[in-house]
Amino acid sequence: MFFWIFNIAILLIIIILFILLSWFWPPDSPWAPWWRTNKKTARAICLLARVGKKDIVYDLGSGDGTALIVASKEFGAKGVGIEIDPLRFLISKVRIKLNGLDKNISIVKNNFYNKKISDATVVFVYLVPRVLRKLKPKFLKELKKGTRIVSLRYKIDLPLRKYDKENQIRMYVI
Ligand SMILES: C[S@@+](CC[C@H](N)C(=O)[O-])C[C@H]1O[C@@H](n2cnc3c(N)ncnc32)[C@H](O)[C@@H]1O
Repeated sequence: MFFWIFNIAILLIIIILFILLSWFWPPDSPWAPWWRTNKKTARAICLLARVGKKDIVYDLGSGDGTALIVASKEFGAKGVGIEIDPLRFLISKVRIKLNGLDKNISIVKNNFYNKKISDATVVFVYLVPRVLRKLKPKFLKELKKGTRIVSLRYKIDLPLRKYDKENQIRMYVI
Protein backbone atom coordinates (compact mmCIF):
# COMPACT_ATOMS: atom_id res chain seq x y z
CA MET A 1 0.00 0.00 0.00
CA PHE A 2 2.75 2.44 1.04
CA PHE A 3 4.58 1.60 -2.21
CA TRP A 4 1.60 2.71 -4.34
CA ILE A 5 0.96 5.88 -2.35
CA PHE A 6 4.66 6.75 -2.67
CA ASN A 7 4.65 6.15 -6.45
CA ILE A 8 1.46 8.17 -7.01
CA ALA A 9 2.87 11.02 -4.91
CA ILE A 10 6.08 11.04 -7.00
CA LEU A 11 4.02 11.03 -10.21
CA LEU A 12 1.90 13.96 -8.96
CA ILE A 13 5.03 15.92 -8.02
CA ILE A 14 6.49 15.35 -11.50
CA ILE A 15 3.24 16.51 -13.16
CA ILE A 16 3.13 19.64 -10.98
CA LEU A 17 6.79 20.38 -11.77
CA PHE A 18 6.06 20.08 -15.51
CA ILE A 19 3.11 22.47 -15.21
CA LEU A 20 5.22 24.97 -13.27
CA LEU A 21 8.09 24.62 -15.73
CA SER A 22 5.75 25.27 -18.64
CA TRP A 23 5.05 28.77 -17.32
CA PHE A 24 8.68 29.76 -17.81
CA TRP A 25 9.86 27.68 -20.74
CA PRO A 26 10.38 29.59 -24.04
CA PRO A 27 7.23 29.88 -26.17
CA ASP A 28 8.57 27.79 -29.05
CA SER A 29 8.77 24.76 -26.82
CA PRO A 30 6.06 22.08 -26.86
CA TRP A 31 6.17 22.39 -23.06
CA ALA A 32 4.90 25.96 -23.12
CA PRO A 33 1.10 25.70 -23.19
CA TRP A 34 0.51 28.97 -21.37
CA TRP A 35 2.28 31.19 -23.87
CA ARG A 36 -0.75 31.83 -25.98
CA THR A 37 -2.62 34.68 -27.63
CA ASN A 38 -5.90 35.57 -25.97
CA LYS A 39 -8.95 36.81 -27.87
CA LYS A 40 -8.40 40.46 -27.02
CA THR A 41 -4.84 40.40 -28.36
CA ALA A 42 -5.94 38.40 -31.41
CA ARG A 43 -8.45 41.19 -32.16
CA ALA A 44 -5.73 43.81 -31.77
CA ILE A 45 -3.52 41.84 -34.19
CA CYS A 46 -6.31 41.66 -36.79
CA LEU A 47 -7.05 45.38 -36.41
CA LEU A 48 -3.37 46.36 -36.74
CA ALA A 49 -2.95 44.20 -39.87
CA ARG A 50 -6.40 45.23 -41.18
CA VAL A 51 -7.37 41.59 -41.66
CA GLY A 52 -10.42 41.13 -43.85
CA LYS A 53 -12.40 38.70 -46.01
CA LYS A 54 -9.77 38.54 -48.76
CA ASP A 55 -6.97 37.51 -46.40
CA ILE A 56 -5.32 34.16 -45.86
CA VAL A 57 -3.84 34.31 -42.39
CA TYR A 58 -1.06 31.86 -41.46
CA ASP A 59 -0.28 31.26 -37.81
CA LEU A 60 3.16 29.63 -37.57
CA GLY A 61 2.95 27.52 -34.43
CA SER A 62 -0.81 27.91 -34.19
CA GLY A 63 -1.22 26.54 -30.65
CA ASP A 64 -4.85 26.17 -29.59
CA GLY A 65 -6.03 28.09 -32.67
CA THR A 66 -7.40 31.20 -30.90
CA ALA A 67 -5.77 33.74 -33.24
CA LEU A 68 -7.10 31.99 -36.34
CA ILE A 69 -10.56 31.50 -34.83
CA VAL A 70 -10.81 35.25 -34.12
CA ALA A 71 -9.41 36.16 -37.58
CA SER A 72 -11.96 33.93 -39.28
CA LYS A 73 -15.02 34.36 -37.06
CA GLU A 74 -14.78 38.11 -36.46
CA PHE A 75 -12.85 39.35 -39.51
CA GLY A 76 -13.92 36.84 -42.19
CA ALA A 77 -10.42 35.67 -43.14
CA LYS A 78 -9.34 32.20 -44.19
CA GLY A 79 -6.81 30.65 -41.83
CA VAL A 80 -3.98 28.14 -42.00
CA GLY A 81 -2.27 26.94 -38.85
CA ILE A 82 0.92 24.91 -38.63
CA GLU A 83 1.47 23.25 -35.27
CA ILE A 84 4.10 20.71 -34.27
CA ASP A 85 2.66 19.68 -30.92
CA PRO A 86 0.08 16.87 -31.34
CA LEU A 87 -1.92 17.86 -28.26
CA ARG A 88 -2.32 21.51 -29.26
CA PHE A 89 -2.98 20.41 -32.84
CA LEU A 90 -5.88 18.24 -31.61
CA ILE A 91 -7.24 20.92 -29.26
CA SER A 92 -7.25 23.48 -32.10
CA LYS A 93 -8.98 21.04 -34.48
CA VAL A 94 -11.75 20.39 -31.94
CA ARG A 95 -12.18 24.11 -31.19
CA ILE A 96 -12.37 24.96 -34.90
CA LYS A 97 -14.98 22.23 -35.44
CA LEU A 98 -17.03 23.41 -32.43
CA ASN A 99 -16.96 26.96 -33.83
CA GLY A 100 -18.17 25.67 -37.22
CA LEU A 101 -15.07 27.07 -38.92
CA ASP A 102 -13.58 23.92 -40.42
CA LYS A 103 -14.32 25.13 -43.97
CA ASN A 104 -12.38 28.35 -43.33
CA ILE A 105 -9.46 27.21 -41.20
CA SER A 106 -7.14 24.31 -41.85
CA ILE A 107 -4.53 23.15 -39.38
CA VAL A 108 -1.62 20.95 -40.33
CA LYS A 109 0.44 19.02 -37.84
CA ASN A 110 3.93 19.75 -39.07
CA ASN A 111 7.11 21.70 -38.61
CA PHE A 112 6.63 25.17 -40.09
CA TYR A 113 10.12 25.18 -41.60
CA ASN A 114 8.94 22.34 -43.87
CA LYS A 115 5.69 23.89 -45.10
CA LYS A 116 5.26 26.38 -47.93
CA ILE A 117 3.68 29.62 -46.76
CA SER A 118 3.67 31.47 -50.08
CA ASP A 119 -0.13 31.89 -50.36
CA ALA A 120 -0.33 33.83 -47.08
CA THR A 121 -1.40 37.46 -47.18
CA VAL A 122 -0.87 37.80 -43.41
CA VAL A 123 1.57 35.77 -41.31
CA PHE A 124 1.16 35.79 -37.56
CA VAL A 125 3.97 34.68 -35.23
CA TYR A 126 4.30 34.44 -31.48
CA LEU A 127 7.75 32.92 -31.35
CA VAL A 128 11.08 33.64 -29.65
CA PRO A 129 13.77 35.80 -31.35
CA ARG A 130 16.04 32.82 -32.11
CA VAL A 131 13.23 31.20 -34.14
CA LEU A 132 12.24 34.49 -35.79
CA ARG A 133 15.87 34.95 -36.95
CA LYS A 134 15.79 31.47 -38.45
CA LEU A 135 12.44 32.16 -40.16
CA LYS A 136 13.50 35.46 -41.76
CA PRO A 137 15.13 33.89 -44.89
CA LYS A 138 11.97 31.79 -45.38
CA PHE A 139 9.82 34.93 -45.17
CA LEU A 140 11.99 36.73 -47.72
CA LYS A 141 12.13 33.73 -50.04
CA GLU A 142 8.50 32.59 -49.98
CA LEU A 143 6.22 35.51 -49.15
CA LYS A 144 4.74 37.73 -51.85
CA LYS A 145 5.38 41.46 -51.94
CA GLY A 146 2.85 43.20 -49.70
CA THR A 147 2.39 40.29 -47.26
CA ARG A 148 2.01 41.53 -43.69
CA ILE A 149 3.93 39.79 -40.92
CA VAL A 150 2.60 40.40 -37.44
CA SER A 151 4.72 39.45 -34.46
CA LEU A 152 3.50 39.36 -30.89
CA ARG A 153 5.99 40.47 -28.25
CA TYR A 154 9.25 39.79 -30.16
CA LYS A 155 10.97 41.91 -32.83
CA ILE A 156 11.87 40.71 -36.31
CA ASP A 157 14.90 42.17 -38.04
CA LEU A 158 12.85 43.84 -40.80
CA PRO A 159 11.75 47.47 -41.28
CA LEU A 160 8.94 48.13 -38.81
CA ARG A 161 5.70 49.36 -40.44
CA LYS A 162 3.30 49.61 -37.45
CA TYR A 163 3.62 49.17 -33.70
CA ASP A 164 0.90 48.66 -31.11
CA LYS A 165 2.83 49.42 -27.93
CA GLU A 166 0.06 48.54 -25.52
CA ASN A 167 -0.31 45.00 -26.87
CA GLN A 168 3.32 44.61 -28.00
CA ILE A 169 2.37 43.84 -31.57
CA ARG A 170 4.70 44.73 -34.45
CA MET A 171 3.78 44.68 -38.11
CA TYR A 172 6.22 44.32 -41.01
CA VAL A 173 5.47 44.31 -44.72
CA ILE A 174 7.43 42.30 -47.31
C1 LIG B 1 3.94 30.74 -28.01
S1 LIG B 1 3.05 29.44 -28.72
C2 LIG B 1 1.97 30.43 -29.71
C3 LIG B 1 0.74 29.71 -30.09
C4 LIG B 1 -0.23 30.53 -30.92
N1 LIG B 1 0.39 31.07 -32.10
C5 LIG B 1 -0.79 31.66 -30.08
O1 LIG B 1 -0.36 32.80 -30.31
O2 LIG B 1 -1.58 31.39 -29.17
C6 LIG B 1 4.21 28.80 -29.95
C7 LIG B 1 3.69 27.58 -30.65
O3 LIG B 1 4.61 27.22 -31.69
C8 LIG B 1 4.68 25.81 -31.76
N2 LIG B 1 5.92 25.51 -32.47
C9 LIG B 1 7.18 25.74 -32.04
N3 LIG B 1 8.08 25.38 -32.97
C10 LIG B 1 7.36 24.91 -34.03
C11 LIG B 1 7.72 24.41 -35.31
N4 LIG B 1 8.99 24.31 -35.69
N5 LIG B 1 6.74 24.05 -36.17
C12 LIG B 1 5.42 24.15 -35.79
N6 LIG B 1 5.02 24.61 -34.59
C13 LIG B 1 5.98 25.00 -33.71
C14 LIG B 1 4.61 25.37 -30.30
O4 LIG B 1 4.22 24.02 -30.17
C15 LIG B 1 3.57 26.35 -29.75
O5 LIG B 1 2.27 25.85 -29.87
